[in-house]
Amino acid sequence: MSTLPKPSLSQNGQVTVVLGSQWGDEGKGKLTDMLAGEMDICARCAGGNNAGHTIVANVGPEQVKTKFDFHLLPSGLVNPRCVGFIGSGVVVHVPSFFSEMDTLEKKGLKCDNRLFLSDRAHLVFDFHQVVDGLKEVELGGSSIGTTKKGIGPAYSSKASRSGLRVHHLYDFDTFAQKFRKLVEARFKRYGNFEYDTEGEIARYRAFAERLRPFVVDGVTFIHSMLSSNRRVLVEGANALMLDLDYGTYPFVTSSSTGIGGVCTGLGIPPQSIGKVIGVTKAYTSRVGAGPFPTELNDDIMTHLQEVGAEYGTTTGRRRRCGWLDMVMLRYSCLINGYTCLNLTKLDVLDGLKELKVATNYMINGKELASFPADLSMLAKVEVVYKTFPGWEGPISEVTEYQQLPQTCREYVEFIEDFLGIPIEWIGVGPGRQSMLHRPIANK
Ligand code: GDP
Ligand code: IMO
Ligand code: MG
Repeated sequence: MSTLPKPSLSQNGQVTVVLGSQWGDEGKGKLTDMLAGEMDICARCAGGNNAGHTIVANVGPEQVKTKFDFHLLPSGLVNPRCVGFIGSGVVVHVPSFFSEMDTLEKKGLKCDNRLFLSDRAHLVFDFHQVVDGLKEVELGGSSIGTTKKGIGPAYSSKASRSGLRVHHLYDFDTFAQKFRKLVEARFKRYGNFEYDTEGEIARYRAFAERLRPFVVDGVTFIHSMLSSNRRVLVEGANALMLDLDYGTYPFVTSSSTGIGGVCTGLGIPPQSIGKVIGVTKAYTSRVGAGPFPTELNDDIMTHLQEVGAEYGTTTGRRRRCGWLDMVMLRYSCLINGYTCLNLTKLDVLDGLKELKVATNYMINGKELASFPADLSMLAKVEVVYKTFPGWEGPISEVTEYQQLPQTCREYVEFIEDFLGIPIEWIGVGPGRQSMLHRPIANK
């Protein structure tokens, strides 16, 4: 008799998903951390350590205010009773896995027996990171502005069926053989860049032993959790507009960052998913190159960057900033099917006299019926804006939705009406306490 968990017919939406609805850095980590208190498992399903999720929380018996930067590990780990799981769809740079874990442990968060990694997850090696840099140089003026974490090259190895997965570490002779082949192929393509192949193999022999206690059969693991009614929270990484299929290709990351990636990355069926929370910044930001129709390049951009502290967590780059884009958000809502939204960083708009929101894209006086696939078309769009009066603020001390200034509520309610999706949470500051909750019916 198989010991695999029996498929449950009552897959009842016990999985809650947090996804980025724009170009990343919407504040997914903060919401994940907040929700993790009520969850048993927090899982990553896609991407790798290209993500950067900042959490500010009071931790330990003395409740010391602490900042955490997560890249590869699930942010739910800040909550001591939440178990972390890295699913099969994630690409894992093992040295980063350990260094992130060591940093967490130094901050008092133990990971032993509460962090698990799917044996089907693919590995990112240092040579993938070198290749990431070389590819960017090759692209020259049209480079993507990647995080240089080797994400694209690692997913390329996976798609070309030559990648190495976590389980390969436990058949080490085969691992070493395949590894040499992979590196050789990169040397052929990119020239003999500096790389100590044999030294790396030796390092991985040691990593394999250290990693062993964390490795699980990902399918058995997640389904055992589901069949024992554990509550699972999925922490999306990157965001819909960086999705390999639906983002602004080729200025995207190399994974499925939307709802589809949750099913494929964790090996779970769609009916196990209940709430899908779209995290949406009250304006728009983007790191790296690529189209951005509502981008600003003026004092308001400086306000958003400075007040919003818009510097990348992973690369330290300044984030490009602009107005909220409802055309893009509607597109994002269609694909991901958010059941509610978390509007974040509303406090950053405090003090602006006027706010603009993009409502339509036009080309030659004609409205576009969709978010265009063709970037040359996107580059030509004239954006139609609706203007709103601003508010004075500060709103960061507000604890109830009704206490927000009226013009601020009008802004929130316009977004809700335009998208037809309730805004359940509103972020008014970086800390855990700076989040307004608006209970919604039938959530
Ligand atoms: P993620 O990648 O989606 O998790 O977002 P990041 O952590 O990269 O970027 C969001 C940044 O905004 C972090 O530094 C958060 O601490 C901060 N943040 C999150 N929500 C709010 C908010 O409502 N207001 C302000 N001012 N900052 C916030
Ligand atoms: P979080 O989870 C913002 C962007 C990079 C680059 C493009 C491709 O923090 O929201 P990659 O290294 O993935 O090949 O880079 O995608 N990018 C992100 N931008 N937030 C992220 O993650 C991102 N992950 C990737 O800047 O433009
Ligand atoms: Mg981020």
